[in-house]
This record gives sequence, C-alpha cells and structure tokens, in this order.
Amino acid sequence: MDDLTKIKSEFLALVNSSKDKIELENARLKILGKKGFITNLMKSLSGLDSESRKKIGPEYNLIKKELINAIEVKKSFIDSEYIDNQIASEVKDITLPSSRENIGSIHPVSQVIEEITQIFNAMSFQVVEGPEIEDDWHNFTALNIPLEHPARQMHDTFYLNTNPKEELSNCKLLRTHTSPVQVRTMMRSKPPIRIIVPGRTYRSDSDQTHTPMFHQAEGLLIDETSHMGHLKGCLIDFVKEFFEVKDINYRFRPSYFPFTEPSAEMDIGCIRNGNEIKIGGTEDWLEILGCGIVNPRVLENCGIDSQKYQGFAFGLGIDRIAMLKYGMPDLRAFFESDIRWLEHYGFRPLDIPNILNRCSK
Ligand code: DAH
Repeated sequence: MDDLTKIKSEFLALVNSSKDKIELENARLKILGKKGFITNLMKSLSGLDSESRKKIGPEYNLIKKELINAIEVKKSFIDSEYIDNQIASEVKDITLPSSRENIGSIHPVSQVIEEITQIFNAMSFQVVEGPEIEDDWHNFTALNIPLEHPARQMHDTFYLNTNPKEELSNCKLLRTHTSPVQVRTMMRSKPPIRIIVPGRTYRSDSDQTHTPMFHQAEGLLIDETSHMGHLKGCLIDFVKEFFEVKDINYRFRPSYFPFTEPSAEMDIGCIRNGNEIKIGGTEDWLEILGCGIVNPRVLENCGIDSQKYQGFAFGLGIDRIAMLKYGMPDLRAFFESDIRWLEHYGFRPLDIPNILNRCSK
C-alpha cells in the first residue's frame, strides 16, 4: 500500500467511526477544510509540471470523490439514526388508562338517567325531552287537572308571573312533573307510542328527601291492546334490572292521579337504619313511582281516539331510586356541588357501573 492509499484509509476510518454530527463535521474539516488533507493535496498539484499533473490529477480527484461520498453516506446514516432514536424515545403507550383526575367524575343522577334509559331502550322505549318552562295547559289542564282541581295545590308550583294582575292560569311555570311531555308527544305523533322522558322538574319543597329541583322519568305507551298487566310486567322487569336483584320486594298500591284510571303507586321493600336506607326485606317501603292506565280524557285532549287506543303511563322519581341503589342518605347533598361528595359518590367515566363501583373505591 503506498502512502497516499494508507492516508486515505485512515481518513475513511475517521469518517466511519464518527458517532454523531459533531464528530463527522470535525472529520470533514480535516479532509476538506482550508488546511484539510484534500485541499492540500489539490494545492500540491500546482507545483507539478503539466505532464505529471495530467497523470496524478485524476488519481487525486478519485480520492476526493471517494472521501466526499463516504462523508455523505455517513451523514445520512447519522441523520436516520437520530430520527429512529427520537421516535423510540417518544413512544406513548396508548393502551394505558387516562388519568381520572383530569376527566372528573359522573354525577350519580346522570349515571342513573343513563341506566334507566338503557333499560327502557332495550324494551323499545324512545328517549324524548320537553321544555322545563311550561304553560298551564300542558302541565295541568290537558292532563285532566282543571283549574279548581285540588291536585294543583299539591304540586307547589313555581309560577313565572312578571305581571301580578295576570291570572295564574295564563302564566308560564316551571314544570312540576315530566307528564306534560306525554301531552306534547301525543299531540305531535300517532300511536303506537313508546317513550321514556328523563328530565328536571320543580316544586317549592325542601327537606331530606325533597329538593326544589328534582328529576323524574316519565314513561308512556299507547297502542290498541296494552293493559294493567303489561304495565306491571314492564315495571317489575325494570326494577329487577335496575337494582340488579332478582328477588326484589315490591308492591303496587291503589292510588289516584287525575291523568290515569285506574292508578297505582309502586313501592320497593327496604330497610332503614337511622339515616341509612338499603334495598331488601319488607320491613319498610319506599315509594318510587306513580303509574296507571292513561285516562281516556287525556287521550281525547291530545287528539287521540280513546275508543281505538289505550295504554299506560308512569312517573319515576330518579333521585329517590339513585339514593336507594347507591346508598346516599340525603338528597340535598346531590345539588350542593361539594367536590368531596362527588368524588365519593361519583362514577368514573369509562367504568361499567355497579353498586360496588364508585370513584372513591
Ligand atoms: N306526574 C306524577 C307526579 O309527579 C307521577 C305520575 C303518576 C306520572 C302516574 C304518571 C302516572 O305518568 O301515570 O307525581
């Protein structure tokens, strides 16, 4: 090996052993910089006669090309190695669960609304909503609760009267129940009807089991054949599914609602221990809903032929069944926006809920 070939090999080794961009740049300067090996080699040509230059020139050029090429190859190798390392260091495990602190938790009322609608959806009931600000006709009159009816007093209505001289019956009001959505639905659609209406309702009332704003879910089924047996079967299936208990104790008591005839209330067997309330037994009973066969007068008020059609309705207290299912003793705490309460009783957004599955657990 002549001297030149040896030096070239040393420079090639220098290039190839460069570990990063900086080392490569230093090698490049030693080869192609102002005082670099190739620069000096090319300069030395000027001292030669033209004959020797013609002979040696191409040889030097070949060495120059070879070294430049080696530098280019090494540079692209270092660049792609850098990108590969960068990608490897930034890998995120997308299968890891997201942190729940950042997402927050689901309020038990939202959770229970979701559970109720899922159960009724599976029985082909469609979710419908209606306005919270209602008029007297939809909230009372159409539901067979005329002006003088004593049931109006029981509702402790919030009237939105801006003009004190205005008759109460002409005023807008905060709906006292979800039943006006029955009226709105029957007026705009033809039977068969199967709806479930979760929503906020308002009455001027407040104690451990009552708040001025509370939640109901209204159910309505209208067709040509459904009767009290279907109503009972539907509600029994619902409570078993909702409370996740097969042998739950329940009873239907005869009752009175102007918009149903006959009417009943459904109670769930429960055990009370001081403030605590648990599902089970027949020691005590908690009323969870009102129901009945839709009064033909209501059908007629809504433009439905009561000779041809019939059906049933029910109104469920959402907050009550939430208290009972998840053991929350005081309804007022539901709406106090205390983050500690929500952290304890709320639900993790991605969890499948059950009685044992809460944020704090
Ligand atoms: N609207 C009634 C209430 O708020 C509950 C109710 C009872 C609704 C019987 C119904 C029903 O649809 O059929 O007290």
